[in-house]
Amino acid sequence: MIYFDHAATSFPKPKEVFEAMADYFFNIGANNGRSGYRMAIKASELVFNIRELLARLFQIKDSARIVFTKNVTESLNIAINGFLVKGDQVVTTSMEHNSVMRPLRYLEQRGQIKIFTVQANREGLVDPEAFADILKKEKIKLVVVNHASNVTGSIVPLDVIAEIAHRHGSRLLADAAQTAGAYPVDAASGDIDMLAFTGHKSLLGPQGTGGLYVREGIELLPLIRGGTGSNSEKEIQPDFLPDQFESGTLNIIGLAGLGAGVKYVLEKGVSNIRRQEMKLTEMFIKEAAKIEGVELFGPGDMDQRVSVVSFNISRCAPSTAAYLLDKHFDIACRSGLHCAPSAHSTIGTLPQGTVRFAFGCFNNAAEVEKGLTALAEISRKEYCKE
Ligand code: ALA
Repeated sequence: MIYFDHAATSFPKPKEVFEAMADYFFNIGANNGRSGYRMAIKASELVFNIRELLARLFQIKDSARIVFTKNVTESLNIAINGFLVKGDQVVTTSMEHNSVMRPLRYLEQRGQIKIFTVQANREGLVDPEAFADILKKEKIKLVVVNHASNVTGSIVPLDVIAEIAHRHGSRLLADAAQTAGAYPVDAASGDIDMLAFTGHKSLLGPQGTGGLYVREGIELLPLIRGGTGSNSEKEIQPDFLPDQFESGTLNIIGLAGLGAGVKYVLEKGVSNIRRQEMKLTEMFIKEAAKIEGVELFGPGDMDQRVSVVSFNISRCAPSTAAYLLDKHFDIACRSGLHCAPSAHSTIGTLPQGTVRFAFGCFNNAAEVEKGLTALAEISRKEYCKE
C-alpha cells in the first residue's frame, strides 16, 4: 500500500515510537505528578522530558507553558473558548478547518463574538495587508490563522501576521496542525501568542496526543476542571500552567510515543524533512500538471506551500477517484471536503471537494511515480463508470 494521507495522520510511525510506548506500558505504567514512588517519579520525568523536547522544537523558553491535549481540535477549543468573552471581535481566514470555524461559529451564533474573514485567493494564499485593513478599522482581540491549509497546503507567514496583530493590540492563535514537524515553527521569533498542534501528524506520535503553547501574559479559562495532583487542599482550579489545563489523568502512553516522534524529528531536522517532502511535492505537481484532465489546486511556488496537494480529475468525482486509487492502485488518500468547506469554497471546489495527496517523510520518488501513473490511467480510462 502506498500511503499518501499524511495530512490526516502519519503512517508508518518510526519504530522508536512504538518502543517508547511499550517501554512505558511494561516498565513505568504509573501516573505522573501524583505520587512519590519510583515508578511515578519516572512517569513525571518522562512527561517533563517530552515537554522539553517540544519546547526545543518550537523554540519555547519555558516548557511548562505547553499544555498537553488529546488533539489540535481540543487545543484550538481551549484557546478560542478560553480567551474570548462576550463582545470580542476575531479575524480569521477563508482557509480555516472546522476545528477553528465550528467553535468560532458557535460563539457567533450565541451572540458572543463577531467574526471578520480575510479572503484567500484561488491558490489559498492570504495577503497579510488584508489583516491590517481590518485591524486598522476594528478593535480585534484575536487573529486565528491556519499556518498551512490541509486542503491546498498554502502557508501563511506567521511572523508577518503576528507583527500586524501586535501592532494593533491583538493576539495571534496559530493552528500548526499541518506544519508542526514538517515546516519550521518558531514560537519565539515568530512572536506567536498561542500555538495549537497535534502529535499524530508530522510529529509522528500516536493519535490522542496534541498540545497548546500559551505565551506568558495570555489569560485563558480552562475548558474542564478537576484533579491535577497540585494544590489538592483547594477545591479551586490551579491558575498555573500546565496544571490549569491538564485536569485528570494524562494519556502518558500516547505522550511517550509523541516524545519518541519529536526526538526522531529533531534528530532528522525539520528542514531536512521539509526538503525531502517538497522534492516529492514538486515532482508530483510538475508531472501531474502534464496529465490531461488533471486540475491542480494550491500555490505553484513551492516556498509557499507544504506537501499537501489537492487535485481533481475531469469526469471523475473525487470520491470515485479515491476509491479507484485504493482499489486498483493500492494508494491511500483522502477525498471530499477535508472538514474545511470554506477552503473549498475559496478554491472553487464546493460541494464535491478534491482528491488530496499528502506526502510524508517516509514516501519516496518511486511511490510518487506510481501515483502519477495511476492518475494518468484514471484520467484516460473509463474507470469512472464504476
Ligand atoms: N484535518 C485532517 C485532514 O485534513 C484530519 O485529514
